Amino acid sequence: MQHFEITKKLVDEDEIKTIVKRLGAEISAGYGSLENELIVIGLLRGSFVFMADLIREIKIPLVVDFMTVSSYGDGTVSSGDVKIVMDVDLSVEGRDVLLVEDIVDTGRTFAKVVRMMKNRKPKSVKTCTFLNKPSARISDVQVDFCGKDIDDEFVVGYGLDYGQSYRNLPYVGVLKP
Ligand code: IMP
Ligand code: MG
Repeated sequence: MQHFEITKKLVDEDEIKTIVKRLGAEISAGYGSLENELIVIGLLRGSFVFMADLIREIKIPLVVDFMTVSSYGDGTVSSGDVKIVMDVDLSVEGRDVLLVEDIVDTGRTFAKVVRMMKNRKPKSVKTCTFLNKPSARISDVQVDFCGKDIDDEFVVGYGLDYGQSYRNLPYVGVLKP
């Protein structure tokens, strides 16, 4: 088992709490009176830690679902090849959908998932990400609710992985290259 050092803490536990509270408030205020519960869809596996905290800060009725898309393999460089590995279970037709990501990097994953969701005739599709790397963007994608912009560095923790490891770190850190 190969384990690398974390060279710096980028987002600590207190800042994570502050970010998640703010996003929850923005999302709660961002929808008028809903006809049906908001469908919050987390992209697995990276979003599951953030998603668990986020939904508890959203004060409007919601249901959750998950989908798995793969774009990375086990490395640190996006392959650009986005595959739907596991689809959502719920029907999104006529519903308000909020897609939740751990991090938007090139934007390819979110762009593809947004396009796919829109084909299913939902009432609305909005996007929320915990972290965002604007300088790494290749595919144009609208981020409606953004936790924090970061530089183009590879980060782990709070659900984010390197080769499936480090997801359990309670903070976000930069791995020693
Ligand atoms: P994109 O399609 O390039 O926007 O990549 C999105 C996905 O790549 C995210 O859902 C993450 O799983 C992964 N990813 C991108 N940057 C990082 C990073 O710095 N650390 C860990 N995973 C990342
Ligand atoms: Mg991911």
